Amino acid sequence: MPRGRPAGIKDVAARAGVSVGTVSNVLNRPDQVRPATRALVEDAMTALGFVRNESARQLRLGSSRIVAYVFLDSSNPFFTDVARGADDALRENGLALMMCTSDGDTRREEAYLSLLLEQRVHGVLLTSADYTSSALQRLSDHGVPVVLVDRPPQEAGGWCSVGVDDVLGGELAVTHLLEQQHQRVAFVGGPMTIPQVTDRWIGAQQAAAAAGAGLVLIETEALTFAGGREAAQRLTGMPARRRPTAAFCANDLVALGLLQQLTHQGVDVPGDIAIVGYDDIDFAAAAAVPLTSVRQPRQLLGRTAAELMHREAQRTSSGTAHVHEQVQFQPELVVRESSGVSQSRRTGSAARGRRGRPRSTPPGA
Ligand code: RIB
Repeated sequence: MPRGRPAGIKDVAARAGVSVGTVSNVLNRPDQVRPATRALVEDAMTALGFVRNESARQLRLGSSRIVAYVFLDSSNPFFTDVARGADDALRENGLALMMCTSDGDTRREEAYLSLLLEQRVHGVLLTSADYTSSALQRLSDHGVPVVLVDRPPQEAGGWCSVGVDDVLGGELAVTHLLEQQHQRVAFVGGPMTIPQVTDRWIGAQQAAAAAGAGLVLIETEALTFAGGREAAQRLTGMPARRRPTAAFCANDLVALGLLQQLTHQGVDVPGDIAIVGYDDIDFAAAAAVPLTSVRQPRQLLGRTAAELMHREAQRTSSGTAHVHEQVQFQPELVVRESSGVSQSRRTGSAARGRRGRPRSTPPGA
């Protein structure tokens, strides 16, 4: 083999003493090759430093082995947990996951989706900032399977989707706070253009209305830590007689930002203001005041989305009819100190009735 030229399939076949077709089978259908033959070919590949030409395979088969996950915010552990579940499932099928963060920017998301179509990716998992993008439809028109992640089924339209019943999640959160005798609850989160936020808001409203309690909306610019810190300023700036004594935050990052800023301002959590978050990311339990949160099965969401996508890709490539599936999981309330239920009460062993720590006199009261 001439020096400098990368080894090709023919070089591997000659080195291993097998046909080019056998080398191709080792690459694409290894389960159809006898282990001893497969070992001969793999040894030849190693000896020659052979690297398969993925672009050639992609041209021949019309798609790559890459699946892209396009999501809102790479600083939010919710998405990296979902990606972990998807990656585990994809790896079992010889596929790899590529992560693309849109930061909630619809133009950036559109550019990603167009690039992924040009690259003929195996499939796309999407938590979208704008589910009406034309690039999304073009992917489907070109036979690239798309699965919507963290999306309610009734709005998944012509795609497979996985999500959690966020309306129920909002109800669980606010009902829990009302059971702690709170009468004025703040809903902290936004923008309200994100469907998951509006669903949680709807659930919160339903719970508050059923109990005749007040619900105050503090809309944030984004579902971020900074959004929660900014909301704290608005919350403590309210006149004491109108200030909510509890806050349900649309996700844990907002809740953790709110918790940090309130604590910084000398406001006691949960004594003065109780807090509930959403997602139950790992940082929730590790917070200075362990955070009560509505748990989403994050890795299971990712795994299920990847399995739906792979099933659709296989049916599309084999010409088998595919019926889109919308999978919805149930949220679970995980109660911790930030909503005024002490560790002992959570274990049911202490005296009932105390709501977390004694009330302090918040600034500006
Ligand atoms: O997908 C929108 C939001 O829902 C994300 O911020 C994530 O935290 C989930 O709760």
